[in-house]
Amino acid sequence: MRFSAIASFSWFLFGAAFASGEESRSTCDELAFILPNSTFYPEAPAYNASISSYPFLQLRLHPSCIIRPKSARDVSQAISVLKDSNCTRFAVKGGGHNANAGFNNIQNGVTIDMQSLNDVEVARGDKVVRVSAGALWQKVYDTAEKRNLTVLGGRIGVVGTAGFLTGGGISFFSPEHGWACDAVVNFEVVLASGEIVNANATSQPDLYAALKGGQSNFGIVTRFDLKAFPATTIWGGRTVYHPNATIPLLTAFTEFKSGEYDPYAAGWVTVRYNHTAATFNPVSIMWYTKPAQKPGALKSILEVKPQIMNGRVEAPVSEHTRNASRMVVADPKRTIWATTSFSISPTIVHRIHALWKEVVPEVAKQYAYAKPVAEITFQALPAPPRNGTSPNSLGFTAAETPEKDLVFLQIIFTFDDEAATEGFEEALKDFLKLIEGLAKDEGVLHRYKYLNFAASFQDPLASYGQEQKDTLREVAEKYDPEGVFQKQVPGGFKLF
Ligand SMILES: Cc1cc2nc3c(=O)[nH]c(=O)nc-3n(C[C@H](O)[C@H](O)[C@H](O)COP(=O)(O)OP(=O)(O)OC[C@H]3O[C@@H](n4cnc5c(N)ncnc54)[C@H](O)[C@@H]3O)c2cc1C
Ligand SMILES: *[C@@H]1O[C@H](CO)[C@@H](O)[C@H](O)[C@H]1NC(C)=O
Ligand SMILES: *[C@@H]1O[C@H](CO)[C@@H](O)[C@H](O)[C@H]1NC(C)=O
Ligand SMILES: *[C@@H]1O[C@H](CO)[C@@H](O)[C@H](O)[C@H]1NC(C)=O
Ligand SMILES: *[C@@H]1O[C@H](CO)[C@@H](O)[C@H](O)[C@H]1NC(C)=O
Ligand SMILES: *[C@@H]1O[C@H](CO)[C@@H](O)[C@H](O)[C@H]1NC(C)=O
Ligand SMILES: *[C@@H]1O[C@H](CO)[C@@H](O)[C@H](O)[C@H]1NC(C)=O
Ligand SMILES: *[C@@H]1O[C@H](CO)[C@@H](O)[C@H](O)[C@H]1NC(C)=O
Ligand SMILES: *[C@@H]1O[C@H](CO)[C@@H](O)[C@H](O)[C@H]1NC(C)=O
Ligand SMILES: *[C@@H]1O[C@H](CO)[C@@H](O)[C@H](O)[C@H]1NC(C)=O
Repeated sequence: MRFSAIASFSWFLFGAAFASGEESRSTCDELAFILPNSTFYPEAPAYNASISSYPFLQLRLHPSCIIRPKSARDVSQAISVLKDSNCTRFAVKGGGHNANAGFNNIQNGVTIDMQSLNDVEVARGDKVVRVSAGALWQKVYDTAEKRNLTVLGGRIGVVGTAGFLTGGGISFFSPEHGWACDAVVNFEVVLASGEIVNANATSQPDLYAALKGGQSNFGIVTRFDLKAFPATTIWGGRTVYHPNATIPLLTAFTEFKSGEYDPYAAGWVTVRYNHTAATFNPVSIMWYTKPAQKPGALKSILEVKPQIMNGRVEAPVSEHTRNASRMVVADPKRTIWATTSFSISPTIVHRIHALWKEVVPEVAKQYAYAKPVAEITFQALPAPPRNGTSPNSLGFTAAETPEKDLVFLQIIFTFDDEAATEGFEEALKDFLKLIEGLAKDEGVLHRYKYLNFAASFQDPLASYGQEQKDTLREVAEKYDPEGVFQKQVPGGFKLF
């Protein structure tokens, strides 16, 4: 407190003269005074290690300093300094896997990197897994499985927990158990005031609901208490098909989505275009979570031929997620992505694919120097909370059945050269317009945009519905009346 009083006084004298970079450096000096062992400047190896830990190159921005808190109290102290600074801008990094530049890092400004706050423990008589917000999913699964437990989490081990859970979260077990965020029984959160609170069904239930889908608008989550489930093995993995199998695969996916609902069938199908190789490759990454009854509704998808590679095995969740990590860590690139949703119809998946397939080589050709790879991925959405499960913020009523009716599309460009970024971003916008136009034509377009795959130019919070967005805004105003998370945190989807 004493130091921040002196700091305010110095701001009174010199603040007006400071440019924003200098201003955040001065805030960094204050942070370094209070959190000497957790504040890192660009010269420090820990700073470099933090920047290198972002999986996509466009995320590797350079803040004036990086704070790596070790406790909720450290986070609280950091927030207090930032709030009292002259509007020093900051970012919060969980696992750093959101692809939108500026969401989980910041140029100049201060980045709070949660990676040192990563304890995972099984608690309350094996009913709950307590996950500190900087932990990655691999550690969560590894820890829980030692007690024969698992949770609803990410399907690739290197992905972070905090962004995933505050945006919704689709797990292997989502077809059976719903959104991962709905299995959070308690959030420990540091508010803009620096206060550390619990948000759960009986304490601040409005904040509890808001954090399930509202991302970083309310505070910094420091711990998630996740409902534990008995661990089981799951069967499945990656199947790579010959290009000739593309249309049959999309037909099989359409039939899978239109047929009887199977609560144990999870995953997605992707068509990948590699411009350098001039190839289109269909892939399915699907799992059956009740191996004794495999392949259930996955049968038609897995029988599509010709196949090039079949990597389906029965194994613990932690093994699937560990192997999958190896495939993504290898060679970091630039990635941009966007999403939209629609109701399944006999033709919509085929029509979207046909349009994309026709246009994507033309787009890629303009930026061939950047060695572009493009993907479209189709997958199911989880069910909304039902049967007395506390509400989330995603805007589906208990009576709706998005798990049966809806498909969401992810559309991605991955490339090597920064110079192509704007061109691919414009191409994504054009693709969305065309694809949403097709879906509208058929009467199957749905408003929902899955936040964790939405582009920064999309508005997933509005996609929850106006009433839901208004509620989120009220909750943000209640818990952060000065709008610290709206104004000082430029990254993420905002409410006002
Ligand atoms: C390889 C890969 C695999 C994926 N697999 C899945 C999947 O199986 N299912 C699925 O649903 N999604 C998946 N995703 C999407 C994933 O949910 C998002 O990328 C998500 O943002 C990852 O969480 P993170 O902590 O790594 O995010 P970050 O990029 O660290 O954070 C995302 C946002 O959340 C905010 N945030 C981070 N930490 C906190 C905190 N402690 N408190 C408040 N706000 C915070 C950040 O400021 C940022 O705005 C995948 C993504 C990738 C790249
Ligand atoms: C805060 O910074 C702005 C410009 O960045 C400046 O105009 C203002 O005077 C500063 N206020 C204080 C109290 O230092
Ligand atoms: C910082 O680290 C040093 C050396 O490990 C230790 O002596 C000191 O107590 C630490 N300071 C704080 C505030 O944790
Ligand atoms: C940090 O990384 C940069 C390049 O990104 C390199 O030039 C510098 O030497 C690194 N510093 C340390 C301390 O490793
Ligand atoms: C986990 O389950 C296995 C097999 O069912 C059993 O042998 C083992 O004792 C269990 N471990 C724990 C910690 O419960
Ligand atoms: C909910 O929060 C209250 C207040 O902090 C706490 O006492 C209670 O244990 C929490 N409930 C759960 C399920 O964590
Ligand atoms: C793919 O289709 C083409 C054209 O129909 C055919 O000539 C070719 O043999 C097929 N390849 C495989 C591996 O099925
Ligand atoms: C794309 O194709 C080129 C040329 O065959 C190859 O070198 C590259 O690894 C491929 N990229 C991906 C992501 O598959
Ligand atoms: C993981 O990789 C190992 C080594 O390649 C392999 O033996 C194992 O079957 C794989 N497991 C899964 C679930 O993919
Ligand atoms: C929830 O309710 C549905 C019907 O409304 C029922 O089919 C289902 O079994 C219930 N699930 C649980 C976990 O109680």
